[in-house]
Amino acid sequence: MRALLISIFLIFCCLGFEVNSITCDPPVGTPVNEPFGESFGINPGRVVWVLDREATKWDGINGYWFDSDNLDQSRVDNMLDKAIRSLTGNDDIVESWDMLFRDFNKRKHGKENGYVPGQTIAMKINLNGDFGYYEDNNGNEVSPQFLKSLMTHLTKYAGVAEKDLYVFDASRLIMPHFQKMFEQYFPDINLVDNKGGMGSVQRAQPDPTSYLQFSNTDVPAQKLTKLPTFVNQADYMIEIDDFRGHDTAGITLSGKNWFGSIYRPDVSCDFGTTSSGHWCPMSLHKFVNVTIRPMGSYNALVDLMGHPKLTSNTLFIISDALYAGPTEFDHTSGYNVPSPPVTFEMEPFNNHWSSSILIAQDPIALDSVGLDILRTEPHIPFARIGCTDNYLHEGALANDPPSGTVYNPSGQGQLSSLGVHEHWNNAYERKYTKNIDPVNGKGIELVEIHLSDD
Ligand SMILES: *[C@@H]1O[C@H](CO)[C@@H](O)[C@H](O)[C@H]1NC(C)=O
Repeated sequence: MRALLISIFLIFCCLGFEVNSITCDPPVGTPVNEPFGESFGINPGRVVWVLDREATKWDGINGYWFDSDNLDQSRVDNMLDKAIRSLTGNDDIVESWDMLFRDFNKRKHGKENGYVPGQTIAMKINLNGDFGYYEDNNGNEVSPQFLKSLMTHLTKYAGVAEKDLYVFDASRLIMPHFQKMFEQYFPDINLVDNKGGMGSVQRAQPDPTSYLQFSNTDVPAQKLTKLPTFVNQADYMIEIDDFRGHDTAGITLSGKNWFGSIYRPDVSCDFGTTSSGHWCPMSLHKFVNVTIRPMGSYNALVDLMGHPKLTSNTLFIISDALYAGPTEFDHTSGYNVPSPPVTFEMEPFNNHWSSSILIAQDPIALDSVGLDILRTEPHIPFARIGCTDNYLHEGALANDPPSGTVYNPSGQGQLSSLGVHEHWNNAYERKYTKNIDPVNGKGIELVEIHLSDD
């Protein structure tokens, strides 16, 4: 077993070493505690991380990790409740939801309005491993338990009618175990995926009136990208991302999540799509590939995050990191096999499943914390393959980025900063500037809540 582990380590180490032919300047993970960019929100810079090891009990072998015995619904409910209340700093959950809507509307529309019945909310989930057939698998991704908790909050505490909610991944398939949960508890919530091929799931349609351009003329079909109709028309988005490594982008957090939301006409797709238009973002991979893009280069994720209908239309971003994993597909067998979750060795996971939920209003702050965790964890080797920081630097300084790009994804003007970026002081203390100095700190405040420490 030890020999096997060592050879696995050697494969990852040397593959990573060889592929990473570019040097990152500054090196990934630096500078430490030197924030840049502008945060916003009720508590600017706040990222809440709730950990409950007792929520996740899978033995790693039998059944699915999302079986009810393996992921405890009531513990997940409690985690989400704690996460939302700490994000706002208000102990009342109904008031907390109202605060989030008011803060968003003040920023976006200049008026501190709460939620108005009839307004729609679209939620992007990342189902990158769910491909081909409607057949459940053990790939690491968002859990039905987490979605059930969030839908309960939206319908019960935020007062949103089921018919005004959309849950989607336009590139992938909504697998049977999700459909079952929604049919049983939220039958009128709209589910939208790539095929619309099962049950009440609808097929994503591009809105011809939507507009998204990439801010670099090398991007194929630079000005021809469309968004799903209900996304283009949504009053609010909530971004629900997976928490994992990625073989091309290094990490998949809130930036990379948008790859499943864009319609690309007349650009080839090596997944065998033959139609002239499709929801396949393959032709963008070059523009997010961390092993070939040094610091200070254009990154397509910044255009997606900054687009007024995507992260910039988002109430908050939340990572379901209950059962996180190394990447989406494991290709070692020569096939695309959904990659199962792995245990996290580092403190405070201590060789348990990642068992976490992370939430923030600021996407750059959330992804900065996510990157600090993932690149520290030995079982997530892809998080160390290249200049994974680049999109966070570009996004934090979107108004004046190191690459000199004029980021203008809507065609209506250059972006301002998308949020604040910094790195923690070290992996043991995990302190950001607002943890070190709550009064004068200008960057991230990480709030860690451990619910079942032994
Ligand atoms: C990313 O770049 C590396 C190094 O050139 C290359 O081997 C890999 O195929 C690229 N990934 C994608 C998905 O294009």
